[in-house]
Amino acid sequence: MELRSVRQSRARHLALLLLLTFAGGIAPASGADGRWELLQRSIGVSAMHMQLLHNDRVIIFDRTDFGRSNLSLPGGRCRVNPRERVLPAGDCTAHSAEYDVAANAARPLFVFTDTWCSSGTVAPDGTLVQTGGWNDGYRNARTMPVCGGGGDESCDWSEQQDALAANR
Ligand SMILES: *[C@@H]1O[C@H](CO)[C@@H](O)[C@H](O)[C@H]1NC(C)=O
Repeated sequence: MELRSVRQSRARHLALLLLLTFAGGIAPASGADGRWELLQRSIGVSAMHMQLLHNDRVIIFDRTDFGRSNLSLPGGRCRVNPRERVLPAGDCTAHSAEYDVAANAARPLFVFTDTWCSSGTVAPDGTLVQTGGWNDGYRNARTMPVCGGGGDESCDWSEQQDALAANR
């Protein structure tokens, strides 16, 4: 008698498990109307971090210690940082970029120290604040303001060396 009730209980559990499994497979996920679209093959900087700002522009940046990126800094500018691990004599490529969603265009930004393992937040005025990093960037704070309208392309990262009291 007791054995039978255990078997019935197991059968009920199995039936419930099967029902949940199949129901889960059939139910469409909400938001299924969305879709992905490839807008550009590459902008030349990997998006280790990516933040959409209030002006509909996306700030993208990668670590700096792996060598050159595929996006050159403008005007022959180079990053010469003796504490840089791979290219201490100079790196003329960007490790950050601003992507303008409406224009589907990207421009290089200048980040000086390694952002690896940094953390970010957006201040109430829309400024992206990024702190910490790795190697030369352990104690740095970086801010990226919201660019003005009308195709303003003058804004860029500002970095404050050793802004943190201790390493990230
Ligand atoms: C840079 O270009 C190389 C060679 O075309 C490619 O393998 C790599 O994925 C590119 N990296 C980025 C971040 O675009």
